Amino acid sequence: MASGDPVSALPRAGRPGDELLAEMTAGRSGDLDWRSGKAFSLVYNAADPSLEELQHQVASLFLHDNALNPFAYPSLAKMEGELVAMSADLLGTEARNGALTSGGTESIFCAVQTAREHARTQLGIAEPTVLLPSTAHPAFTKAAHNLDIESIRVPVDSTGRADVAATEALIDDRTALIVGSAPCYPYGSIDPIEELAALAASRGLLCHVDACLGGWLLPFWAEVTGPIQPWDLRVEGVTSLSADIHKYGYAYKGASVVLYRDRSLLKHQFFSFDDWPGGFYGSATPAGTRPAPPIAGAWATLMHLGHEGFIAKATAIAEATATIAAGIDATGDLRVLHDPDMSVLLFTSAERSITSLGAAMTKRGWKLDQVQEGLHLMVSPGHREVADQFVVDLGEAYAEAEPAAEQEAAAAPYAGRAIS
Ligand SMILES: Cc1ncc(COP(=O)(O)O)c(C=O)c1O
Repeated sequence: MASGDPVSALPRAGRPGDELLAEMTAGRSGDLDWRSGKAFSLVYNAADPSLEELQHQVASLFLHDNALNPFAYPSLAKMEGELVAMSADLLGTEARNGALTSGGTESIFCAVQTAREHARTQLGIAEPTVLLPSTAHPAFTKAAHNLDIESIRVPVDSTGRADVAATEALIDDRTALIVGSAPCYPYGSIDPIEELAALAASRGLLCHVDACLGGWLLPFWAEVTGPIQPWDLRVEGVTSLSADIHKYGYAYKGASVVLYRDRSLLKHQFFSFDDWPGGFYGSATPAGTRPAPPIAGAWATLMHLGHEGFIAKATAIAEATATIAAGIDATGDLRVLHDPDMSVLLFTSAERSITSLGAAMTKRGWKLDQVQEGLHLMVSPGHREVADQFVVDLGEAYAEAEPAAEQEAAAAPYAGRAIS
């Protein structure tokens, strides 16, 4: 619970910093405690004190700088270019074919905007549509809404993955973009990217892979756990991809990339305007003023970890995921849905109330997200230390949970920011 009475107007006299810090620190007591290792969303806990220390130093070094004008900040422009280049190298395109954004939602917005402009200028489609698996992140529907184009959700198949035949059946002369996820947020499953991309390519359409979640883990996951199906820009027909550095790239918030197979596509998201007394204005993404700390922080994070650091993190995640999945299985009733391809587990129960099970875990300090079909976990390196305890607590919580009711309580909001 945030402390203090609600502020409704600017105070007449300013208040001392130490007093404010004390109040804000107290106010944080009800906030998500991700350092405990008991939370499974929102923060990807790298459990790496030296990395965190570096990130704090970098954030304060660049705190007041503005990446709006790259000519004023050559150091930021260089780091930004290198972040895109490192991502492009990892994910299968050329160094110049992308842009840094503030997060997955903005990267997806850019890709949908590009698809709309490509459809209008190259395909002659005035009112383009986007085909999405039902598991695709809401950011696609939001982008389509804000860009005033239609998005159509296609139910996924019985494995929780995009249904290629059903997608094909819905392609018409307005279709501009086909989307797949690597992996999708709900189930951690990778859509059949090669088939979706082939479908798009055979009709001259664009194909976007949402790797916001997996982009900075799957390449290392494959090295640690064994081959996974091709899913990135190396797949023929994939034309764009989003990958968040602030998720499994372990940077603090505000860093993602949108990448294209071809630089001519990237240009559809550029904007410039020279009929303004304030001077020439140009931008590569929707934002104007951009905070420098996420750029510098993401750069320092990738450079500090290096390939070996990412392998070590993927190893920790794989071990924790295996322990937790085995613990779920050991109850004999709880079941992970749709055979995830990565470190995301959505599990359900045939016999117990999921709401009651979640509450019993909350009582033991765990913070699991309840969604429509069960309890949702995204495993981070920090979970390796607590995975055994999770299994013990899950067993106890399961024994304590009430039998399944006919009607479960509604799922907690994924992103419940009040809209009024
Ligand atoms: C698969 C996927 N895509 C997109 C997003 C949106 O990312 P952001 O919240 O950084 O905007 C998320 C967030 O969890 C995600 O899991």
